[in-house]
Amino acid sequence: MKGIILAGGHGTRLHPITLGTSKQMLPVYDKPLIYYSLSVLMLAGITEIQIISSPADLGNFSRLLGDGSELGLTLTYAEQAEPRGIAEAFLVSADHIGQDSVALVLGDNIFHGPGFASLLQQKVRSVNGCVLFGYSVPDPERYGVGEVDRDGRLVSVEEKPVRPRSNLAITGLYLYDNDVVDIAKNLRPSKRGELEITEINRTYMERGKAQLVSLGRGFVWLDAGTHEALAEAGQYVQILEHRQGVRIACIEEIAWRMGFIDREDLRRLGKKLEKSPYGQYVLDVAARG
Ligand code: G1P
Repeated sequence: MKGIILAGGHGTRLHPITLGTSKQMLPVYDKPLIYYSLSVLMLAGITEIQIISSPADLGNFSRLLGDGSELGLTLTYAEQAEPRGIAEAFLVSADHIGQDSVALVLGDNIFHGPGFASLLQQKVRSVNGCVLFGYSVPDPERYGVGEVDRDGRLVSVEEKPVRPRSNLAITGLYLYDNDVVDIAKNLRPSKRGELEITEINRTYMERGKAQLVSLGRGFVWLDAGTHEALAEAGQYVQILEHRQGVRIACIEEIAWRMGFIDREDLRRLGKKLEKSPYGQYVLDVAARG
């Protein structure tokens, strides 16, 4: 399976902080926001990943992450000239996807919870149609909203409905088989002028091939789209990391635990960052495991 991180958009709801940089570069406590979505794909076992962003921001992402080889990844970069909707990612990345299945993650989403990696790996292996992940929220009208039947099959899906039919927000992590490229090619822009991911999901639903997996209580899904959400995400990560002495979304550690790099590679990566507590943590993991 191939991976895509969509890191575009103007971040207008975060102005003025995003006037000079992109949202996915902003810090969430000790690391840039994009590390969290990259971690999700890595934990799913995906190593061939394309990062999509605006022409102005793409260079910053490649300075940050390079070609991925130090992490045992193959990272490539593609431009989305204007933010024309999430579903445009499948057109921009059609060559990258080729004949493969694909996981798309939005670069401002944060996922954290026990058992997440094994759930992802299992879904990646068995995707037939699409797999979406739902999360119960008090304000579903801000999101794509789905309803499921007893078997976890998606039976309704709406984008930012005024009167939501459930509390289940559809999170920004989507797994698709290769049909998604053709479905995306046939999409027309919505009233707000975007190629909507919700329309792709509706197509799969109508084919009876859309699964919505509910991420239960105790799981954490955050998006960092507003000042409050960004600050809360930072606080969450800080508290968790401070209390447990671990670091979440530490891409160097994940690369090692997933077997993409060896212990010596990990040590070298830590050494480069050794003046920061984050780098010290990487060195500690390399030393102790
Ligand atoms: C987008 C999608 C929406 C999804 C959300 C998840 O919304 O359109 O369906 O629930 O991401 O973060 P946006 O962030 O563009 O408002």
